[in-house]
Amino acid sequence: MKDYRATAPGKVILFGEHAVVYHQPAIAVPVTTVQAKVDLQATGENSGLRIIAPDLGRDYRLAEAEADDALALIIRLTLARFQQVESLQATLIVTSTIPLGRGLGSGAAISTAVVRALAQFYGQQITPAAISDLVYEVEKLYHGTPSGIDNTVIAYEQPVYFIRQQPIERLPVGRAFILVVGDTGQVSPTHKAVGHVRRQWQADPQRFESLFAEAGRIAATARTIIEQGGPGATLGALMNDNQAVLAAMGVSSPELDRLIEAARQAGAWGAKLSGAGWGGNMIALVEPEAAAAVSDALLKAGATGCIITEVAPS
Ligand code: MEV
Repeated sequence: MKDYRATAPGKVILFGEHAVVYHQPAIAVPVTTVQAKVDLQATGENSGLRIIAPDLGRDYRLAEAEADDALALIIRLTLARFQQVESLQATLIVTSTIPLGRGLGSGAAISTAVVRALAQFYGQQITPAAISDLVYEVEKLYHGTPSGIDNTVIAYEQPVYFIRQQPIERLPVGRAFILVVGDTGQVSPTHKAVGHVRRQWQADPQRFESLFAEAGRIAATARTIIEQGGPGATLGALMNDNQAVLAAMGVSSPELDRLIEAARQAGAWGAKLSGAGWGGNMIALVEPEAAAAVSDALLKAGATGCIITEVAPS
């Protein structure tokens, strides 16, 4: 029987995480060197949809899924959108090379691949905007107030300059640049870090609003440099400035700080955490000749994995 296969990339936030929840601009790019993949095959049996996620050690039926099951939610939302109310007789297998829970958008990528596979299965056209809207509903399971940046950058598969609740702006990239992504190996608890920032903002709105505004100014400046293909050293310095703001928000960690310092020492133009923080991944901007040295330095400093990825001109 025909196998329908769909994929979706990971992502990194280059500038503006956390502040983006408070309507400041942020920049994110897809990372295509890691992918979520969904295979969907009709079974012809009358036993509903079987969901297999070997990486998570899970094998269950849609009909038995808990209400807060992310895979079941995206499947149900997509079936409703395609007006497919009759039960789906198929097997859906989800695999992913995106490390789970490390700020690389694994959840949004899996949801996106599920929607794309179901769209193929039913012969439906679906726009990136519609995929992004469906995936956003699932992102709400991870924390109550997602900005929407993860589902947007992954569903569009393009660099974005993102402001919450505003029309998406694609970000043209004037010149290729290289990122080294280093994994602390620790799960980054998005809802906890976002909740921590919220509580601190409520306790000291003036201080936090000025940190958010500073992150927003950094993202706006970085946008111009990326568009114009400006100097890597200038962009790297902005990453370092953004990291200082994130540290002041209290979302860095000793492990992130160690990797960021190791990348800078090894010659990166700049480095910062990427995503919610308190673990997860950091990113370093490097000139091509420095990529291998920075990656080695990160692994020596305790990174559990490293990805070297190019952001292509667009
Ligand atoms: C998580 O990838 C990015 C955060 O800014 C949360 C969000 O934007 O919803 C921390």
